[in-house]
Amino acid sequence: MILSHIVAVSKNFVIGNNQELPWKMPEDLRYFHQVTAGHIVVMGRKNYEANGKALRNRTNIVITRSESFRPGDAIVAGSIDEALRVAGSYRPEECFIVGGGEIYRQTLDMVDRIYITVIDTEVQGDTYYPEIDLSDYRIISKISKKADAENPFDHTYYIVESGEWRVKS
Ligand SMILES: NC(=O)c1ccc[n+]([C@@H]2O[C@H](COP(=O)([O-])OP(=O)(O)OC[C@H]3O[C@@H](n4cnc5c(N)ncnc54)[C@H](OP(=O)(O)O)[C@@H]3O)[C@@H](O)[C@H]2O)c1
Repeated sequence: MILSHIVAVSKNFVIGNNQELPWKMPEDLRYFHQVTAGHIVVMGRKNYEANGKALRNRTNIVITRSESFRPGDAIVAGSIDEALRVAGSYRPEECFIVGGGEIYRQTLDMVDRIYITVIDTEVQGDTYYPEIDLSDYRIISKISKKADAENPFDHTYYIVESGEWRVKS
């Protein structure tokens, strides 16, 4: 199983503010849905609550320490290990960790691949992605897009790999 992050970050690594995305970039949202459609997505409880429901057409696994959080539309896991065990039991080719900040931070060392959209702006926020240096990774693909009427910032879609492939079940 390829384990991946998919994330959008500002140049100063902000990913969220007040449990929302700090920008409106519909093209990046479409990209997110296109890449993750039909796959397993793993997320923190706050990310799930920010969406208000499970992501459609995907198997959703939500990580929480709460015993009472039991959404009807998602699988609940009590730890990151448990979430990845459950994901692995589906024998997927790839599993996407979709945030938020707490979950990205705790899984950065485990992922093989990162789909990272760099939004060409600095913003204020309360949630950050770890300050990775993309030159430490193998860049598999890089597509830059200019701002337009719908999307206020230039942005670049990178897919990077850690290069150290582990033996996977
Ligand atoms: N820019 C992007 O690409 C992107 C993507 C996703 C999210 N976001 C943003 O990120 C923010 C949300 O991120 P966040 O860091 O606040 O929260 P989060 O990572 O979504 O969720 C945190 C919660 O996950 C559970 N959790 C974390 N680690 C755990 C562990 N080891 N074992 C069991 N449960 C664990 C806990 O839930 P309980 O409290 O229920 O125990 C914790 O409160 C929002 O602003 C959202 O918009 C941005």
